Amino acid sequence: MMTGGILSKTVAFVVAVMMFAANTAGAGTDARATRLRCEYLKDPTAVDATAPRLSWIVEASGRGRRQAAYQVLVASGAKGLAADTGDLWDSGRVASAETTHVEYAGARMVPRQQCWWKVRVWDEKGEAGAWSEPARWTMGLLKMEEWQGAQWIGFDKPRETSPEKGKLNLPPARFLRKDFPVGKPVRRAMLYSSALGIHDAYINGRKVGDEYFNPGWTEYTKRVYYRAYDVTTMLKDGDNTVGAILADGWYSGSFGLRGGRDSYGKNIRFMALLVVDHADGTTAVVATDDSWKAATGPILEADFFQGETYDARVELTGWSAPGYDEANWQPVVTGGTMRVRLPDKTTIEVEPSLHAAPHEPVRIHKEHKPKSIDRPKHGMHVLDMGTNFAGFARVKVSAPAGTRIGLRFGERVNEDGTIHTENLRVLRAADTYICRGGGEETWSPQFTFHGFQYVEVTGWVGELTSDAVIGIEVTSATPEAGSFECSSAMANQLHRNITQTQRANFIDIPTDCPQRNERLGWTGDARAYVRTATYNNDVAAFFTKWLVDLADAQGPEGWYPKTAPSKHFGGDGGPAWADAGVICPWEIHTAYGDKRLLGKHYDEMAKFVAYRVEGAKNLRPPDKYHCYGDWLNMKANTPKEVIFTAYFARSAWLMAHMAEALGKTDDAAKYQDLFKRIRTVFNEDYVGTDGKVKGDTQTCYILAIMFDLVEGERLRQAGEHLVERIKARGWHLSTGFVGTPDILPALTKIGRTDVAYRLFHTDTNPSWGFPIKNGATSMWEHWDSWTPEKGFIKGMNSFSHYSFGAVGRWMFDTIGGIDAGSPGFGKIVIRPQPDDQLTYAKVSYDSIRGPIVSNWKRTGDRLTMEVTIPANTTATVYVPAADPGKVTEGGKPASQAPAVATLSPEPGFAVFTVGSGIYQFTSGLPGK
Ligand code: BGC
Repeated sequence: MMTGGILSKTVAFVVAVMMFAANTAGAGTDARATRLRCEYLKDPTAVDATAPRLSWIVEASGRGRRQAAYQVLVASGAKGLAADTGDLWDSGRVASAETTHVEYAGARMVPRQQCWWKVRVWDEKGEAGAWSEPARWTMGLLKMEEWQGAQWIGFDKPRETSPEKGKLNLPPARFLRKDFPVGKPVRRAMLYSSALGIHDAYINGRKVGDEYFNPGWTEYTKRVYYRAYDVTTMLKDGDNTVGAILADGWYSGSFGLRGGRDSYGKNIRFMALLVVDHADGTTAVVATDDSWKAATGPILEADFFQGETYDARVELTGWSAPGYDEANWQPVVTGGTMRVRLPDKTTIEVEPSLHAAPHEPVRIHKEHKPKSIDRPKHGMHVLDMGTNFAGFARVKVSAPAGTRIGLRFGERVNEDGTIHTENLRVLRAADTYICRGGGEETWSPQFTFHGFQYVEVTGWVGELTSDAVIGIEVTSATPEAGSFECSSAMANQLHRNITQTQRANFIDIPTDCPQRNERLGWTGDARAYVRTATYNNDVAAFFTKWLVDLADAQGPEGWYPKTAPSKHFGGDGGPAWADAGVICPWEIHTAYGDKRLLGKHYDEMAKFVAYRVEGAKNLRPPDKYHCYGDWLNMKANTPKEVIFTAYFARSAWLMAHMAEALGKTDDAAKYQDLFKRIRTVFNEDYVGTDGKVKGDTQTCYILAIMFDLVEGERLRQAGEHLVERIKARGWHLSTGFVGTPDILPALTKIGRTDVAYRLFHTDTNPSWGFPIKNGATSMWEHWDSWTPEKGFIKGMNSFSHYSFGAVGRWMFDTIGGIDAGSPGFGKIVIRPQPDDQLTYAKVSYDSIRGPIVSNWKRTGDRLTMEVTIPANTTATVYVPAADPGKVTEGGKPASQAPAVATLSPEPGFAVFTVGSGIYQFTSGLPGK
């Protein structure tokens, strides 16, 4: 069955390439640059990098297509670009195969500079293709002076007077406004806005953009991001109004494990600059200052964690449009300093620096209609949205004025059908809508989200139809990159659950879980999951941002923290948590070939490894150190010293490879030597002559195998012990956050993919299949978050936690067989390892160099593989085969196929190198 999703995607891609070839017939070559990106983003409106990096992919029909050269034109106007002139930069013909991270090297970039750009490529025959479609980027403000005196403004009274409601003190959102005239034709208007808190900006009655929770979470005492919007078409001749609604967000809302408030400060702030370029060449600005007016309105409570309360009876109709009577509005206060406590316990006032947001904003991903509506109690409806996601509910209601619709959110339901809220811990997770009356009204909150599958609705008047309350899913808008399908329904559901959970937890930062009182950027979780994340979505910009959070949170001694931003959990994150500071940049580099990122964080990473060396006693663990261990393992604790030493070695090994990538050969040798010395310690202290590793858990062997800590006979023994440990558990895993990401890769590495598949297909506890058998629509925090015998685990228990979803990487690189052969997929490895229980797999990954497809189908002992390799890349294709000499491609012996070179076979595989194109291999599999 090779039809449906991925194949039709492939066909669409091929058809598009063919149509394109037809359209450009006569242009010399059909090789063309598409998908133009600047600093990973499509047409970004505020770029801070003064030498922005440009990337594209090459599309070209046929096989073995390459880019021999490129030319980039960057113009200050669309017309100039259309006339093929690059007044800012004309790279000329550059003989290079590079399509990623090409540094702009033209005229000096100035603040707000608009850049239109396009690329053409020469193919392998030296023929020039047509120019690409134009793309754009716009520079950010670059310096604080460019904010033209804009001030942080706020409205603090509501906070001071907000009543204590039990323990919760949830102040209303603040509304801010300013009228201004536009007297001359406008050529371009840009709005720059930021907040200490979260905000939405408005112009002339409309929300600017379609984003949520800006400007996201950073180490606010050090930096805060702004976003830029082209608002030219939102302005009009005459009177205009700019405004904002401001809420507490991460800055001062209730947050963290204790649900305390004011993490960074008590008083939230907004800053904006509207720059209006007139057609006559003059510029006018509107900046936040003390002339703005403030009020509170219908958003009575606006807490990021606890939820929102909206009273539609007190709406401020027309508040962000001209002509509004602001007589009752109050003056704003100005100033955006924060108090920071220094290690010597003195405090200082700091003001954050403003930077252009380098990452995608949070947007609506999808709407979910309820699958069923239950009435477990009188006056209560419980809606099942069908899947567990992060977001909120949108309500459409007709009810008398003052009707209070209560919404509460839960991931699961109890036996009596009511929502399960025990695992929210101290979180309220509830919104309230108070009706205006007099007709149909529609509402959803703006400044909160919840992690849920079920919505409890109380106070509903009349019938609750299936379109009355729907779920709105939000996530950081990272483009989808991967797709996975195979003949196992369980595996397909697992893939859906992984991606669902990724979306729910990639909300500005990578979090642990969206539903309870945490939502923290746990470093150990991101470390476990980052590689899988790259297969599912293009997370380059997302991690570029979070790695700055991590750097900002690094301790003066060199440690990386438990969470980033680190407000709620500072201090050394310990092995496998702190090491995220080294592992995540490496994995991002692997996926996107980003040397600038490695260079940017290199000194910090070096400082971290130096901190580990200093803290250690002759490279052995210090007497006291923090370590979470193999978190949430199944009664198989791995000794902390084993985890410490293994991760210490791993970070040294990664430093050696990163130093090498950056051309720092001395450092590379130094770290390689460090790695070897730590490996010796590992073997001396923890590995017995029988190859047993101290602790004798599955995770012990996984670490030893995956981090190259054992070699030769010891490696063989470690492999045997790993399989024994799995067998001893009745062919189950016992691993936690440390061992799980690597258990299947470790088995594949030692040639026991059969055992990996055995674990993969298992559906008894603990396994990936067990939650699915029990209705999971997302990844559970514990292997047994719920069991038929024991029900819910008490206390810490999330149903949307991605760490165990780290198996996704193996599904892509072993079931599908798609892997990077060089950082950034310039070289690709296709090495699917079919399994007896699967009859087909269709896996694709849209890499930074274009779409890669690996589809295979097994009929008896015949295997068919369909592989798509993007232009300007090469791939080593491993075709599973009993007899490598009998493999065919396109119906002919593979050795005769065009653009296919045969390499020496490896046990069980025929091996080829191929250029770009679509290939169909067939082979015979070993008989049973
Ligand atoms: C989080 C985890 C995290 C752990 C560390 C938990 O509360 O949810 O994901 O890694 O703490 O101990």
